[in-house]
Amino acid sequence: MRHLLDTESLSYNNAIQILDTAQEMSAVGEREIKKIPALRGRTVVNLFFEDSTRTRISFEAAAKRLSADVINFSAKGSSVSKGESLKDTAQTLEAMSADAVVIRHWASGAPARLANSGWIDAAVINAGDGTHAHPTQALLDAFTMRAHWAKLSGTASVGADLKGMRVVIAGDVLHSRVARSNVWLLRTLGAHVTLVAPPTLLPIGVEHWPCEISYDLDAALEAGVDAIMMLRVQAERMNASFFPSTREYARRWGFDDARLAKLDALAQKDTIIMHPGPMNRGLEISSAAADSPRSTVLAQVRNGVSVRMAALYLLLSGDMREPATPSNFPP
Ligand code: CP
Repeated sequence: MRHLLDTESLSYNNAIQILDTAQEMSAVGEREIKKIPALRGRTVVNLFFEDSTRTRISFEAAAKRLSADVINFSAKGSSVSKGESLKDTAQTLEAMSADAVVIRHWASGAPARLANSGWIDAAVINAGDGTHAHPTQALLDAFTMRAHWAKLSGTASVGADLKGMRVVIAGDVLHSRVARSNVWLLRTLGAHVTLVAPPTLLPIGVEHWPCEISYDLDAALEAGVDAIMMLRVQAERMNASFFPSTREYARRWGFDDARLAKLDALAQKDTIIMHPGPMNRGLEISSAAADSPRSTVLAQVRNGVSVRMAALYLLLSGDMREPATPSNFPP
């Protein structure tokens, strides 16, 4: 596998390999890894056509911890605003000896275009494209869930998958590349996924995704859940006709204080609350939920560095085991 473009084409073995490598890169015993020489002399370009805090900074931190040289490119303030194309921008950066290009783009499919066009030789990592995919976010989410699942079952997480884990992903699924990438990866890893959303915030064709669909967050919680992932309401991509009022949304689909209390009342003491960030506090998640001991929001950010180290290392060292395949099922 030369590029990391989505999770739909990521094989079970490669997904486990990335998670295991991330675990090795997160710490030696109790000691956090600060720097290793694995990619010394290699250059990683962060090519961001859309805003980002977590993904951009953690790819930069990951590349630096691997001792790579890093070039950060943001479309704002660049010659993109003068009309320069993706092809010319990418080739300009490759002329500066890029070995890997990490790309975030507002257009779904832009990373695949870059990877398959023959414009550049570098490995391409999708850091989020339109509403399509955000594979490293799904991998860091799976890494976070795997650590939790292993703790619950008292087993080692290395080599383990998420077979039997019950995951609810709730909110603005329509605009969420995070939801899409999580559904495919979690299916590959054997988890059971339920999507919960208002009917107007589900994409056409969602009935063909490998998950259940519900419109009722309380019913999904009452059915039993090991991890609940709240999605950001993407106001910047929203057509007003898709969206109930803010108040109605928070009441019916937000993880509010009442639902936090409900988890306690249901004796679901081990359920974790996840969010990819950035959060709209008071809309899809209350502050009490986001800051509660159940919340893994900051652990997800921390795990993002190790997962991105693993992805960069495996792609640039050529150690990724298998080619990408059109569809993957757990063995
Ligand atoms: N989760 C995520 O992609 O966050 P950023 O937009 O801050 O990178």
